Amino acid sequence: MTEIKPHSIKFDLSHSESFWYKENLFINQILNSFHLLFPATENFFVDTLKESSKKINNQNLINEIKGFIGQETKHANEHQKVWEVLKKDYKIDRLIESFSFFVKKIIQKNLSLEYSLSLTSALEHYTTMLAKLASNENFFDKADPEIKKIYIWHIKEELDHSEVAFKVLNEMNSDYFLRASGMCLATILFFSISGTTIFVLSVQDKKIFQMEFYKDMFEVFFGKKYNLFENGLNEIKKYFEIGFHPKRVQYQEI
Ligand SMILES: [Fe+2]
Ligand SMILES: [Fe+2]
Repeated sequence: MTEIKPHSIKFDLSHSESFWYKENLFINQILNSFHLLFPATENFFVDTLKESSKKINNQNLINEIKGFIGQETKHANEHQKVWEVLKKDYKIDRLIESFSFFVKKIIQKNLSLEYSLSLTSALEHYTTMLAKLASNENFFDKADPEIKKIYIWHIKEELDHSEVAFKVLNEMNSDYFLRASGMCLATILFFSISGTTIFVLSVQDKKIFQMEFYKDMFEVFFGKKYNLFENGLNEIKKYFEIGFHPKRVQYQEI
C-alpha cells in the first residue's frame, strides 16, 4: 500500500470566470460555494487530526495523518486562489469571515476533540461522496479547464485519504453513537451552510431570479446525470451501518 502524500498542481486562472461550469448553473453555484467553504473547513480537519495524532500510538496511522494533513493543507491554499476569480463578480469577504469565525469560535471552541473528530470523519464522508460523483468521466465536460484541474486533483486526493479520519476516530473512540451523532451534526451543517452560501451568491448574481436556476437544481437532485438526492441518501445510510468502513482509492487508480 503506497503512502498518502500531497501531489503538486499547476493552474492558471488569468482567463477564468465565476460562471465556469457551463453545463449546469446550480452545480456552478455549489462548486463556487465550496471554493469559499473548503479552506476554513479543511483547516479545522487539519487541527483536529493534528491534536488527535498526539493521543494515539499507532505509528502507521500517525504516518497516514501526516499525509492527510499535507493534502488538506494544500487544498485549503489552492482553493483560496479561486477567490480572486469570484471577487470579480461577488462580494465574498464577509461570507468568508463569518464562516471562519463560526468554525473557529463556535465549532472548534465548543466541541470536544472526540466530537470534532467524529464531525471531521462525517464531513469527510460527504467529500468522498461528492468526489465519487464528480469523478464520473463526463462531469467536467463543459467546465473551465483550469478550475477543472483543481477539482480533479482535489477529488483524487479526497478519495486517496478517505479512510484516515474514520480510522483515527475508531482508534480513539469506536462508540457507534459518537460516530452517528457526528453524522447528524455534519448533515445539518453541510446543508444549512452550503445552502446559505449558494443562496447569497445567487442573490448577488441574480441567478436566483432565473428559471434556469430551478430547472438545473431539479436536474442536480433528481436528473439521471447527477441524481444527488438518491446518491446522497444511499451514502448517508451507509455511514449509519454498524459495520461501515470507508474504502481508500489510491491517487494513481483514478
Ligand atoms: Fe480536501
Ligand atoms: Fe479530505
